Amino acid sequence: MALDLLVSVLTAAAWMSAGVAAAARRPRTAAALFAVALVASLARVWSVLALAGAGWWFVQEKITVALPLLVAAGAAATALAGPRLLRAARRADAASREAVKAPAVAVPLLGAGYAATAGIVQTFLIGYPADPGTALLLLAVAAGAVLGTWRAMSTHVPGLRTATAVTAVAAVLGGTLVFVPSGETTAEGSATGGTAAMAATGSGTGSHEHHSASEGSASLMGAETRPVTDLRGPAAPPPGGAVRRFELTARTATVTLSSGRKVPAWTFNGQVPGPPLTAVQGDLVEVRLRNADITSGVTLHWHGYDVPSGEDGVPGLTQEAVPPGGEFVYRFVAAQVGTYWYHTHEVSDLGVRMGLYGTLVVTPKGTAAEGLDLTLPVHTLGGVTVTGDRDQPLVRQAAPGTPVRLRLINTDNTPHRFTLAGTPYRLVAVDGTDLNGPGTLGRVGLRLAAGGRYDLAFTMPSDPVLLRVDDRTDSVRITPESGPPGDGAAAAKGAGASATADSAADSGAVPAADGQTAGWPELDLTRYGAPAPTPFTSRSRFDRNFTLVLDRGFALTNGRPAYAHTVNGAAFPDIPTEVVREGDLVRLTVVNRGRETHPWHLHGHRVLVLSRDGRSVTGSPLWLDTFDVQPGQVWEVAFRAANPGLWMNHCHNLSHADLGMMLHLAYEGVTTPFHGAHSG
Ligand code: C2O
Ligand code: CU
Repeated sequence: MALDLLVSVLTAAAWMSAGVAAAARRPRTAAALFAVALVASLARVWSVLALAGAGWWFVQEKITVALPLLVAAGAAATALAGPRLLRAARRADAASREAVKAPAVAVPLLGAGYAATAGIVQTFLIGYPADPGTALLLLAVAAGAVLGTWRAMSTHVPGLRTATAVTAVAAVLGGTLVFVPSGETTAEGSATGGTAAMAATGSGTGSHEHHSASEGSASLMGAETRPVTDLRGPAAPPPGGAVRRFELTARTATVTLSSGRKVPAWTFNGQVPGPPLTAVQGDLVEVRLRNADITSGVTLHWHGYDVPSGEDGVPGLTQEAVPPGGEFVYRFVAAQVGTYWYHTHEVSDLGVRMGLYGTLVVTPKGTAAEGLDLTLPVHTLGGVTVTGDRDQPLVRQAAPGTPVRLRLINTDNTPHRFTLAGTPYRLVAVDGTDLNGPGTLGRVGLRLAAGGRYDLAFTMPSDPVLLRVDDRTDSVRITPESGPPGDGAAAAKGAGASATADSAADSGAVPAADGQTAGWPELDLTRYGAPAPTPFTSRSRFDRNFTLVLDRGFALTNGRPAYAHTVNGAAFPDIPTEVVREGDLVRLTVVNRGRETHPWHLHGHRVLVLSRDGRSVTGSPLWLDTFDVQPGQVWEVAFRAANPGLWMNHCHNLSHADLGMMLHLAYEGVTTPFHGAHSG
């Protein structure tokens, strides 16, 4: 993609400067640049065709619009200007200098430059997919530029009026096609009504690729429906489970980091991160959320936890945001073991950045916790990286032989790279799910997607162990403690109870661990661990196939025009809802055509990774709730639709979500009484 971009810029620049050189009476320079432009144009054809090998999504607008335009304009320029230019360049006398200045030479060269530029503009401003309207509009703009140039260079342009009129008509037609939304988009996208009657009924069989909520609501009558507000957790735990009650009050506060630095923040109970929530598998988690003074409102979303839809905390979809003075009680059974987190979902980009998040850890039933177990949410707060509530290294002691588990959580908008030095270790769980047969790791970097979690496990050696974030700071330092391992484990547990009482230990000895980690290669998760049977594979028969092409482009999002982060050319709430029926096997293909990473996150379900860039997973099965779709990547994932409700499906770079990169996944027959168009 980068190479194609480079070639496209070179092509446009070469045609343009050939035209400028001709107009400036430089036949030799113009001829040389013309030759460069020809070669660059051929290279462009090649680079687009090469890119096509990665998938049609990457070249759709290039093959249908940009390339034909470039080839046509380049051929015209060659035919019209080429012979004269070469003749003039050979002679290079005063007469030939005047000859190349003629509009008949300069204008076709510049025209090819405009055409090449139009292709670049299209890729940047409009992106995927190109439609007839945008193609027409681009063509009109390029033609208009040619006419304008011609007019500026010559007093007589034959047929100027007619040509201008045709161009104007093309522009108006193109603009109408682009900016006046089609019937379907209007129905779904009217931001106020929006997806209010988000409901889908038994009408959905056949092709499911582009169902929209409006289609669903149209056939709502008579079908059996359920409001999402009925899909709530139980009032009591299953037999043998306890009730874990927590109270979280959202309020603004100034938090003091470990260095003494003060940061204005949005907090739960006055702290960032919010109180750590823990439970044992089978418990009922009950969280009473109160809002003291967050004027925009708050909710709680259980990231990666497949709660009933009515507990999912999506404002405008599963509940109203809790206003100042209000409250909401969440209840769900702690069925999944592992490392998760919670965060507000109302104006979540700002809210989470400001501190409205915390950790959720569920441990297996019947296994007493042993050793040192640290939950380490990494966040950028007030411009500094904090691990938990510390902007300085967290120092812990553990006796050699003690089992240690580090639960890494990325609560930021962008990926973080972790390295662990000083001990061999295993990456035992990803996004809360244990890996199968994870091997021993050493000098590797672990790239953790925004929103994702990694659990690392090792046995405490007799030397210090260092965890680094982004190869910079030592964020956690675990030093060996003298004494028999038994005592060490007990002491470590004791230390676990007072998470912030360790500043005095900050000046630990410099560890023997390697100083440089930046050069360590990145672990390829799709090849780590051992394969195991999965309930479905890429050869399964899927009931639904959805493709999401991620890009940037101008689009309406929440009623305002923006340079949006788009999905299939549209931005929230105009992206058609994906409709599934309970029990469906669903395949989701996510393609990143853009230049930024998109950590894709589906609520309410874990997805099994089938392939990345066409290569199957050869290591442990990977069940993820957040997967990092890097520029140029294509991820194929699948899930069983077994958690009825209305779910967000969005980029977890929350500033991208805010700029349109989110949509809904709806189960047939589930409705929302809320407005549906705003989902935080
Ligand atoms: Cu952590 Cu909708 O996300
Ligand atoms: Cu994104």
